[in-house]
Amino acid sequence: MQKNILIIGACGQIGTELTFTLREKHGSDVVIASDIREGNESLMESGPFELLDATDYDALEELIAYYEIDEVYLMAAMLSATAEKFPMRAWNLNMNSLFNVLNLAKEKKISKIFWPSSIAVFGPNTPRENTPQNTIMEPSTVYGISKQSGERWCEYYHNKFEVDVRSIRYPGLISWKTMPGGGTTDYAVEIYHKALSDKSYTCFLSANTSLPMMFMDDAIRATLELMESDYNTIKVRSAYNLSAMSFTPSEIAASITKHIPEFKISYEPDSRQAIADSWPSSIDDSKTQTDWGWRAAFDLERTTATMLENLKV
Ligand code: SER
Repeated sequence: MQKNILIIGACGQIGTELTFTLREKHGSDVVIASDIREGNESLMESGPFELLDATDYDALEELIAYYEIDEVYLMAAMLSATAEKFPMRAWNLNMNSLFNVLNLAKEKKISKIFWPSSIAVFGPNTPRENTPQNTIMEPSTVYGISKQSGERWCEYYHNKFEVDVRSIRYPGLISWKTMPGGGTTDYAVEIYHKALSDKSYTCFLSANTSLPMMFMDDAIRATLELMESDYNTIKVRSAYNLSAMSFTPSEIAASITKHIPEFKISYEPDSRQAIADSWPSSIDDSKTQTDWGWRAAFDLERTTATMLENLKV
């Protein structure tokens, strides 16, 4: 039987590339892209697209019935920096969209869910280096609180109602096709654009702020590998730690200087510094490696070379 896939938040940073990859794999017609607003032209033209507010249960239920959707990737969310400005809107979007898909799965209207968690589930009391899968969490941001709560609800729906929901704690994601928006790790994308256009970048985090990061190709591959794993191999139904690399703004700048020698970075930390300071600097994903064989392929040097190559005009 043909399994149709719905991507919610398809126009966002992850959603765009996930849509392209899933369409390449399964065919355009079986992958339905949706978002609250339209996205870039190449995405819109690559297959079916529907405007959808993921917090509207009835609209979501109708779309799922119409397209006979079996699997949902819920990528819509308000990220860390924006969520600090609009706490209630962030909570409403991040939580109610999740409840909507979890409840549709509980009612057997869909059979599989991917929902992204984040390194933001960790907080200032978490061990910062090599943060383990199971540890103190206590997130101190609105976004982190919503992701931590979401993890608890995913595990609950799995244990109580056998909902097949799968999740990853993504690190900061670096990509060239679509810009991120409203996150604390966004600097690691902006810096490449500015390096090419202005040969300089003013970073909103301080020089030595180390954060876990990942190139988008790795993130998409991890997502698909998790979703394709056998039901019984998925032992963690909250969210898996996922790791590729960690670097500071001064280290990413040094990697850019190897390609653009005149590039200069300066630092003007803003309110996002406190968010970054509450997060881990590196992640231990050994449980993920054991359970479903995860291995990252992109380090900082390869990420920089790939970003600059694809962004230059
Ligand atoms: N990249 C996200 C952010 O910075 C974290 O998941 O908000």
